[in-house]
Amino acid sequence: AGRSARVREIATARKALRGALMPILHAVQEDLGYVDQTDLPVIADVLNLSVAEVHGVVTFYRDFRREPAGRTTVRICQAEACRSVGAEELAEHAKRRTGVGFGETTYDGRVTVDEVFCLGNCALGPAVQVGDKLHGRVTPSRLDAILGEAR
Ligand code: FES
Repeated sequence: AGRSARVREIATARKALRGALMPILHAVQEDLGYVDQTDLPVIADVLNLSVAEVHGVVTFYRDFRREPAGRTTVRICQAEACRSVGAEELAEHAKRRTGVGFGETTYDGRVTVDEVFCLGNCALGPAVQVGDKLHGRVTPSRLDAILGEAR
């Protein structure tokens, strides 16, 4: 009840905005950490939309997290400079290791894996950010070590 009431409050405060759905979804994510399935009917009701319409927007845009973030977020740079030195392979490796793709969280709630586009560390790619810490020249085995520390 607490969550739905909060979502309703957030949605109601912004319903008059032009294209209110996106700002509402961003605000819900900022305030509550992610957009839950149970938030959709509340938002749909406030905006007079169907749940399917809200659902379509949430799933179309990559910005929205659908579940609470893990205790640690590991962001792997996928911008050009890092790609040229193996960032895609590194992302594949992360996916195999954790069993989750970008924007998803391991079942134990430990790690969220995400992509990021340039960490300003291009000379030392592939770059990976864990919390506030930046890692450069990350190989698959170093990534394993980083993931291991997140336990
Ligand atoms: Fe990866 Fe800049 S491209 S840090």
